[in-house]
Amino acid sequence: MPENAKLVLEGKEYELPVVTGTENEKAVDITRLRDLSGYITLDSGYKNTGATVSKITYLDGENGILRYRGYPIEQLAERSTFLEVAYLLIYGELPTRSQLDEFDNNIRRHTLIHEDMKRFYQAYPTYAHPMGVVASVTCSLSTFYPESLNPNRPWEKINLTITRILAKFPTIAAWAYNNSIGHPVNYPKNKYSYVENFLHMMFSKPTEEYEPDPVVVNALDKLLILHADHEQNCSTSTVRLVGSSQANLYGSIAAGCIALWGPLHGGANQAVIEMLDQIHADGGNVQKYVEKAKDKNDPFRLMGFGHRVYKNFDPRAKIIKKACDDVLNKLGIHDPVLDIAKKLEEVALQDEYFVERKLYPNVDFYSGIIYRAIGIPVDMFTVMFALGRLPGWIAQWKEMVENKEPIGRPRQIYTGAAKRDYVNIAERG
Ligand code: SDX
Repeated sequence: MPENAKLVLEGKEYELPVVTGTENEKAVDITRLRDLSGYITLDSGYKNTGATVSKITYLDGENGILRYRGYPIEQLAERSTFLEVAYLLIYGELPTRSQLDEFDNNIRRHTLIHEDMKRFYQAYPTYAHPMGVVASVTCSLSTFYPESLNPNRPWEKINLTITRILAKFPTIAAWAYNNSIGHPVNYPKNKYSYVENFLHMMFSKPTEEYEPDPVVVNALDKLLILHADHEQNCSTSTVRLVGSSQANLYGSIAAGCIALWGPLHGGANQAVIEMLDQIHADGGNVQKYVEKAKDKNDPFRLMGFGHRVYKNFDPRAKIIKKACDDVLNKLGIHDPVLDIAKKLEEVALQDEYFVERKLYPNVDFYSGIIYRAIGIPVDMFTVMFALGRLPGWIAQWKEMVENKEPIGRPRQIYTGAAKRDYVNIAERG
């Protein structure tokens, strides 16, 4: 049992308990710090602050390790399926065959969204960013299922809400794309698997149904597995914080979508492809862009590089990089930006600026190349990230509810004006 941490403040010593995780991670539990000492802690961006204890995902940034419920991401990406991983994350164990079949069948039976929701899509301009549409329609599910608003609803009702959002999110996402290109929406067909159905809804036309290509289905299934959870990242922390007020699951997921949208987070996959296209259009001079990324006077960053936790290779990037070659070869596609991405990685990883700051390719650096190869348009890339992250968000929200965690409400240190009296406008000069 590790000894308590000792903190001396203004000559007085305080003992704070130490928490040790499964992999021997250590934390000082400051739950009672303010009661004991009147002090709080300050940690902009929560770089050193743990918000919770969790049994879902373990990642070791120094050693490039990522495990879902203890299973290494490399094994799951190679041998599992996205729906099986979703079950594992949400319910904690790999499903038996009958459990997975029941989970799959329940989802297939809930893929339709209320016909009245179709009108929402017609109200958006065709140039609307799909993330704005998807987040709004996802939140609107709470208006069609008001029973989801009851924080004290029994778990079988919560599980129905979980099934509904897992089943309907691909439909909501694909309809945003159908609408953005002025095509009629494609209704789900329950003969298809989860990923096949999404591809069908994305790419079928009134004139011809999309034939799911196994290479594409497998590649997308693997990408979704790799995005499924990542412990307390920005969007997942948002889902937990919103849910901690007893807000409903649909609204919490919608909030997660908005947090993910930012280019520093899930929006990076779109920004990476735009960056690689810019470098390609500019003659492929990767050194020029590496220098720009290092220049503090230049706002340009190497998108898809760096990570708050990984100070070594992001294990997901390694898997996706390999899958890039595999998928593009099988599809007979040569995308010049893949060569540029590899060259950029090679040059950056030999540059002192990146080495010193431990900036490696992250999950977003190569993923867009595969999305583009399978026909996903760039402005749908972050929607694809959200589709993958959905089971992780659900699992983390469920864990927060099961643990009866308190409403999240951080403290602050006030540095504004001291007390002063009101002055009438006439006297303000
Ligand atoms: C995701 O948290 C998660 O788990 C997220 C995620 C998930 O699965 O949920 O993994 C998904 O969001 C991946 C990250 C995608 N974002 C990008 O690729 C955008 C580019 N990367 C960065 O903006 C940055 O690396 C962050 C936002 C990812 C991390 O930023 P931090 O941890 O706050 O680090 P920082 O910005 O303080 O950077 C430290 C130093 C700074 O230089 P100095 O001030 O020390 O001189 O590194 C530099 C930064 O300027 N730096 C970069 C850089 N990333 C960091 N310089 C150039 N290019 C970059 N990409």
